[in-house]
Amino acid sequence: MTDPVRIVYVIGTRPNFVKTAPVIAAMRERHPDGHHVIVHTGQHYDRAMSEIFFEELGVPTPDHMLEVGSGTHAVQTARTMERLEPVILAEQPDLLVVPGDVNSTLAAVLVASKLQLPIAHVESGLRSFDMTMPEEVNRIVADRFSKYLFMHSEEAAENLRAEGIPDERMHMVGNTMIDTLVALRDRIEAADSPGKLEVTPGGYALVTLHRPALVDGPLLGETVAGLAALSEAMPVVFPVHPRTRKMMEAAGGGAEAPNLLLSEPLGYVDFLSLVAGAGAVLTDSGGIQEETTYLGVPCFTLRANTERPVTIDLGTNELLGLDPSAIASIPERLAARPASPLEPPPLWDGRAAERIAEVLLPAYADPERAITAST
Ligand code: UD1
Repeated sequence: MTDPVRIVYVIGTRPNFVKTAPVIAAMRERHPDGHHVIVHTGQHYDRAMSEIFFEELGVPTPDHMLEVGSGTHAVQTARTMERLEPVILAEQPDLLVVPGDVNSTLAAVLVASKLQLPIAHVESGLRSFDMTMPEEVNRIVADRFSKYLFMHSEEAAENLRAEGIPDERMHMVGNTMIDTLVALRDRIEAADSPGKLEVTPGGYALVTLHRPALVDGPLLGETVAGLAALSEAMPVVFPVHPRTRKMMEAAGGGAEAPNLLLSEPLGYVDFLSLVAGAGAVLTDSGGIQEETTYLGVPCFTLRANTERPVTIDLGTNELLGLDPSAIASIPERLAARPASPLEPPPLWDGRAAERIAEVLLPAYADPERAITAST
């Protein structure tokens, strides 16, 4: 009789809770006797950025809270590494599971690889080819050192091959962020966030902005002015990320316009209800490009590039460039869009986490249970 498997999941930011919740659930189901240890780095810590997601997504309370908080990239990464290493040494896991491309991801991968702990990377192979994006560095390191690379689109495999990563490490499983959307679809439909804000479904624009390239410099003021102008054509709903809020306050506050509705960050269900009802979404987020593609909602991405080209080729996404003046063209671009319905990309079907668990099962199942399961 072997010991039950021990798996550590490292999460720390809002999008990563969404990507990991279904993986933890699928792994717990297949390894009910295993030790599933959840480590929250604390990179995101406001209730609206963290706790509310654990509640809504049904993620168990973390076993370890590292409380690293905010800081420069080096400080945030180093603090996470320092606090994670003793946890890994104490827990002695067989595997570390980590999603995405944030600083918590980078830190976890560096700690685990130095301890020669196998790593499973969820959302592997995305590349913007823009090394000025902190996430691009984090993705490359995560993929280079992970044993199991779980991908959600074909271009991910091409990107990994181009970096010399062998096919044996790659697994096309689909999109775990879409798993969460599918699992909570009924609650999202019932939430009626547009009704609560008194905006008409299909008639408003929803905005999210948080990337340093856009919000940490002079482009933010131009962007907010562009949103105020857009709100004369259609109401604009803008839940503001804390980073963006801080920058707006430093620049002297936001633009005042009667139909520009600023709010605090929203919980998952309320936010997705707003996405599903939007006539258009304007964003610089990665995950929202995917969620709009799945839901068939027109998405305009205020960036020069995307690491998610599948959302342009097969989805609803259009790149506006890193150019706030392009916001003015949204009504015209919307009118020019074909109305034909789209199919979501292959394997964006709500079952990606199950596939991840199936890949990991032979390596980590209790041999006795694996025999029982196959007979
Ligand atoms: C991080 C990720 C980004 C991801 C985003 C999702 C990195 C390099 N960036 O960006 O890839 O798309 O999360 O939201 O890891 N803050 C709060 N409360 C919080 C969290 C942050 O007030 O709960 C404020 C702080 O002022 C902080 C700033 O937001 O300095 C930025 O937070 P940080 O975690 O450094 O990066 P994000 O911009 O959130």
